[in-house]
Amino acid sequence: MQRMKLLVAASAMAGLLSVGAMAGNADLVKQGEKIFNTKKIGNCLACHAVNGKNINNPGNLGPKLQGLSAWPEQALFDKVYDPYTTNPISAMPPFGKNGVLNDEQIKAVVAYLKTIN
Ligand code: HEC
Repeated sequence: MQRMKLLVAASAMAGLLSVGAMAGNADLVKQGEKIFNTKKIGNCLACHAVNGKNINNPGNLGPKLQGLSAWPEQALFDKVYDPYTTNPISAMPPFGKNGVLNDEQIKAVVAYLKTIN
């Protein structure tokens, strides 16, 4: 039980820290956008069009991304890290869990996702 509480506190702290680190960071957004659109890195565009952004020839296996600016950063991080936690039958690969993107790269992607209305 104690261990559980510690874990909850630690993840809450991590959330707060990442919010502070991300605020207004244009470089991070750019970095995230690059990961999103680069086939050899994130390759998110293979499955997602993005509302309001010009994406080069996006795939449509995943939904068109929109309204993500309203999502909490932690929820976006978790989605990219491992979509199965919120959707056990997701067709989206777990980029964090399978080691394709590290935490820093996911944070950059999240900063970019937060710009999507
Ligand atoms: C192989 C296809 C595929 C790739 C590649 C992919 N996704 Fe997805 N994504 C999906 C599918 C399918 C869903 C809908 C099911 C779900 O929510 O898990 C989804 C859902 C999402 C959602 C939730 C959207 C919503 O409105 O609920 C976000 C955010 C997202 N993807 C971001 C990303 C990011 C960022 C990347 C790249 C790091 C990425 N996806 C790569 C297939 C993909």
